[in-house]
Amino acid sequence: MPAIKFYDHEPIPMEMHKVKIVQQLNLLPAEERLSKMRKAGFNTFKLHNGAIFMDMLTDSGVNAMSDKMLAGMMMPDDAYAGSESFYRMRAKLREIFGMKYCLPAHQGRACENILALRFVKPGSCVIMNYHFTTAKAHITRLGGRVEELVKDEGLVSNSDLPFKGDIDLDKLEACIEREGVENIAFMRLEAGTNLIGGQPVSVQNFKDACAIARKHGIISVLDASLLQDNLYFNKTREEKYKDVPIRTITREIADQFDIIYFSARKFGFARGGGIMIRDRELFHSMEDMVTMYEGFLTYGGMSVREMEAMTVGFDESMEMDVISQGPQFIQYCVDRLDEYGVPMITPGGGLGAHIDASRFVSHIPQSEYPAGALTCALYLCGGIRGMERGTLSEERNPDGSERFASMELVRLALPRRVFTLSQVEYVIDRVKWVYDHRHLIGGLRFIHEPATLRFFTGKLEATSDWPERLVAAYKEEFGDDQ
Ligand SMILES: Cc1ncc(COP(=O)(O)O)c(C=O)c1O
Repeated sequence: MPAIKFYDHEPIPMEMHKVKIVQQLNLLPAEERLSKMRKAGFNTFKLHNGAIFMDMLTDSGVNAMSDKMLAGMMMPDDAYAGSESFYRMRAKLREIFGMKYCLPAHQGRACENILALRFVKPGSCVIMNYHFTTAKAHITRLGGRVEELVKDEGLVSNSDLPFKGDIDLDKLEACIEREGVENIAFMRLEAGTNLIGGQPVSVQNFKDACAIARKHGIISVLDASLLQDNLYFNKTREEKYKDVPIRTITREIADQFDIIYFSARKFGFARGGGIMIRDRELFHSMEDMVTMYEGFLTYGGMSVREMEAMTVGFDESMEMDVISQGPQFIQYCVDRLDEYGVPMITPGGGLGAHIDASRFVSHIPQSEYPAGALTCALYLCGGIRGMERGTLSEERNPDGSERFASMELVRLALPRRVFTLSQVEYVIDRVKWVYDHRHLIGGLRFIHEPATLRFFTGKLEATSDWPERLVAAYKEEFGDDQ
């Protein structure tokens, strides 16, 4: 996106696309939202989409498609085996990442399942800059462990560090020494590190960490689901890369790794996933898991239409005009809220604007899920559906005690090309109101708690009548119909 100059004021984020298909939105009155929230067990995953005004839960599978992606969907090659749609997709991935072998899978977590089954044994350790929920769940299910070695500054919420997703190289060396190479299943680096606020990793850090892994004979894996955001930051925050084309930066990153996997619900703007592998033997050692869990090797659980769409989407992910819209909208939102005093994760990352709930509602103890409670409050006060990314999204320790998250975040995702700046302004306005009334928000407790990935399907209740009191104050401010 070029910085388009304005005559009368400073530049604002600009959409470099126009809208051709729309979906009508519905803003329920606050009282109705309260009743929907109760039914959903104070879990925003359980709300019906029709009850939501601004769906900022995720950027996963809900990005707007382009006319070219839709056009691609009109020409799929439907075959159980040997679909040309798959070969077109694989050719595009080979061109972008320079890796020969490709295993298709129905989404990102399916790739994580295959990688965990292939490499993780009871007691083995997987090194990461930071975990992602599903990646970790597959590893721990098989008796493995995750070591998170992000730099300490990566977990400081208010910062101007440009690459908060960088892995700490000293910690990496020490961890390899401590664990022993034979106990390390692989090193997984996540681009655009999701759970710490969509924070990027520098090209230099990818290079340095992979050099260490290579020296010790440890397999290196890139989770490229959020690579497009990461690339935007490599170009705009890493001096050395400011004049380097996005495709060249991508190749420089890809060249460091043995394996790259992605959720095409994010990378590719469609719905699917895949694993790219450099080594032939390694590829053959995993292909039977695709046929067993996903589908035949030329569709892996994906529809041929989606494969055609993502093939175009991969190309669009290499265009600065496309990948800059999300981060620029996010930075705008973060800056406006930060100026107002709302505790935000700074600098803005990719994926969404992240609120630091531990400071926003500091009166709620971690055992009562402050980020979960704030997520519910934002739905009650504006119909905004965010996602809890804190203790609720963790799993309990083996002895049943809570594993408190190192960050309590509320994520307000900005799916790519979906929202306009006026909608972002609405969100900023409602977050400010909630911040000024934060003392009204209380905690949550589980009434149904699944053992694995509890944040998806668990049900909770409020620890007091705080939701009713919050809604009453909101109605007093905005009236009965909002
Ligand atoms: C970094 C990262 N990796 C993996 C996944 C899992 O992908 P999926 O939702 O397609 O299973 C996600 C999903 O949000 C993600 O953000």
